[in-house]
Amino acid sequence: MTSPIRTERHDNVLVVISDNPPVNALGQAVRAGLKDAIEEALSDDGIEAVVIRCDGQTFFAGADITEFGKPPVGPNLPETLDAMEASDKPVVAAIHGTALGGGCEVALACHYRVAVPSAKLGLPEVKLGLIPGAAGTQRLPRLVGAEAALPLVVDGNPISAKKAQSVGLIDALAGEDSLEAEAIAFAKSRIGQPVPRASEGKANDDGVRDPDLFDRFRASQARKIRGFDAPNSAIEAVKAAGELSYAEGVKKERELFMKLMTGTQSAAMRHYFFAERAANKIDDVPNDTPLIPIRKIGVIGAGTMGGGISMNFLSAGIPVTILEMANDALDRGVRTVRTNYESTAKRGRMTAEQVEKAMGLLTPTLSYDDLADCDLVIEAVYENMEVKKQVFGKLDEVVKQGAILASNTSYLDIDEIATATTRPGYVVGMHFFSPANVMKLLEVVRGKETRHDVLATVMKLSKAIGKVAAVSGVCPGFIGNRMLSKRQEQANELIMEGANYWDVDDVLLDFGFPMGPFQMADLAGIDIGWHRDPTKVTTIREALCAAERFGQKNGKGFYDYDEARNRTPSDEVKRIIADFAAKEGKERREISKDETRERLLYPMVNEGAKILEEGMAQRASDIDVVWINGYGWPLYTGGPMFWADTIGLHTVATGLEEYGLPVSDRLRSTAEGDGKFNDKP
Ligand code: 3HC
Repeated sequence: MTSPIRTERHDNVLVVISDNPPVNALGQAVRAGLKDAIEEALSDDGIEAVVIRCDGQTFFAGADITEFGKPPVGPNLPETLDAMEASDKPVVAAIHGTALGGGCEVALACHYRVAVPSAKLGLPEVKLGLIPGAAGTQRLPRLVGAEAALPLVVDGNPISAKKAQSVGLIDALAGEDSLEAEAIAFAKSRIGQPVPRASEGKANDDGVRDPDLFDRFRASQARKIRGFDAPNSAIEAVKAAGELSYAEGVKKERELFMKLMTGTQSAAMRHYFFAERAANKIDDVPNDTPLIPIRKIGVIGAGTMGGGISMNFLSAGIPVTILEMANDALDRGVRTVRTNYESTAKRGRMTAEQVEKAMGLLTPTLSYDDLADCDLVIEAVYENMEVKKQVFGKLDEVVKQGAILASNTSYLDIDEIATATTRPGYVVGMHFFSPANVMKLLEVVRGKETRHDVLATVMKLSKAIGKVAAVSGVCPGFIGNRMLSKRQEQANELIMEGANYWDVDDVLLDFGFPMGPFQMADLAGIDIGWHRDPTKVTTIREALCAAERFGQKNGKGFYDYDEARNRTPSDEVKRIIADFAAKEGKERREISKDETRERLLYPMVNEGAKILEEGMAQRASDIDVVWINGYGWPLYTGGPMFWADTIGLHTVATGLEEYGLPVSDRLRSTAEGDGKFNDKP
């Protein structure tokens, strides 16, 4: 097998080049090749400096994640990097694309770093439930200081080359088209000088002088890192860099890394990494399916949803024409989009010019004719089949042939909507989640006639606007809401049987959800869909509405809210629930947290199994992607199906039986065969 590493001599400089598509991951052959190349450079008197660069789209994007969990084959990354750093001949990293994880650690082990302005550097290991494992947590703070190192290691978000230069992670910027030549010139200019080694760097005094730095940083991240193991280990490792010798610090990093690597959180997050990428692929739609060019979007409805949907495209530089029925609704919608952008700008996440640029791409209209030349129109009107069919009939008349007609319905039958058109092949569901400009998930609903090029185009487009897409077949509620309704059924049942509604919420919070169902109801508004007749009370929600408990919007819903929106359980609601239970003759009892959790979550897994059985999801991991991105299922458990695999499908099936709840054929047969929903947990 030919090595992915080759070398080229440029006078007295050895250029070491990696060619390991798609992302130059640091697999065994790459590590071995790098180690050999360094040895070649050291043993050759004609070579006085080394440049390391990569072919293809990026500098090394990290360790090869597919090797994790398998028996290690040497040389390992730390020893490869130590050999690199030990060289007395200057070693220069020439960086383009993304130097991530192990790739950033390669750069740190080099004596100098030169990058093109478009390059990004980062240590995203926390996103895989890990910390850097090749001395990144020890070299980085010694090079740039603990304060600059903490966000890189703990948040895992990459930084631009310019920012990297400002903190001392990059020594020089090179032209986008002249990286190699400039890196060679840089290397030559350092020949004969003592080499600076990051492991010997003295920059981490800040963390030593101000040890509270770490607690302050932890407190500032508390909400974001709740429940995750890796960020705390990352803080500990960076702190150790200031307290211990380099060798001891590396040992500490290794201990923390190995503990995380063998734990369930990292397994779950690695599962998610591949799940997200798999979800973007549709089994029977070939990769090379020709795409429909999307240059202009139409959005029907300028309400919260339509406005949020539009923002995704405007932010990505794609013009949007937004349609409403009346002028005031249209004006209000456009104003809301502007206000949202301006508040993003106030938080420093957008410039004033970017706001104007995005708004300049938005065309408001009251006339369907203005949608004629759109390549994709997304309908976001009221959830009513007749209304939707009227809209689609109208769109079919005015919008050019070959354009995609999408519905943002969260529940309705896309195939029926498609019958209102003469082009059912071009009809698809694009189910955004509220707030649509923020939430990552896009459920792409595939009708029975939806064409391959339509699907391929929508999947590609979703990536361009920063969404994570997963495909669902046509069934009520699709993947996400269909499973949510099972959880909701149990939540309602549990409070009738005697569970406190705040305990139900707390159980889900403890599990790692950002909120529980009753908090969610208060946030969304209890009166959504209410018939507005206080004398007609058949459900708890209607009873709450009759008592004018509409949710957070009027300071009382399931909970009472103070000015700062702190919530406390309400005596009035307790009474309403108890009365209801009495009326229905429910025997009330104390319900444990375990029972609550199991009854909320096991039926969801069961519904997921049915979704698989019916072919409504392509794979179990797509269901995980939907729940993590659309409903706040905690990433560190890997999603409902992976979580079920982790706790054991027998446990889930037996639990359901004990509670007298249904067990689907797929769940039962997979459990009986000792199988898992996800093949490679
Ligand atoms: N190992 C193995 N495969 C990888 C990989 C990695 N580190 N990174 C990406 N891939 C694969 C993807 O699975 C995908 O495969 P597929 O085509 O079969 O689905 C392919 O490469 C392309 O990836 P993307 O679709 O993500 O391509 P993009 O161009 O959108 O993004 C990227 C490129 C920004 C590099 C992105 O892939 C990424 O963020 N990769 C992960 C980076 C990372 O987490 N690195 C740290 C690894 S852990 C580590 O280094 C530990 C060390 O400290 C010891």
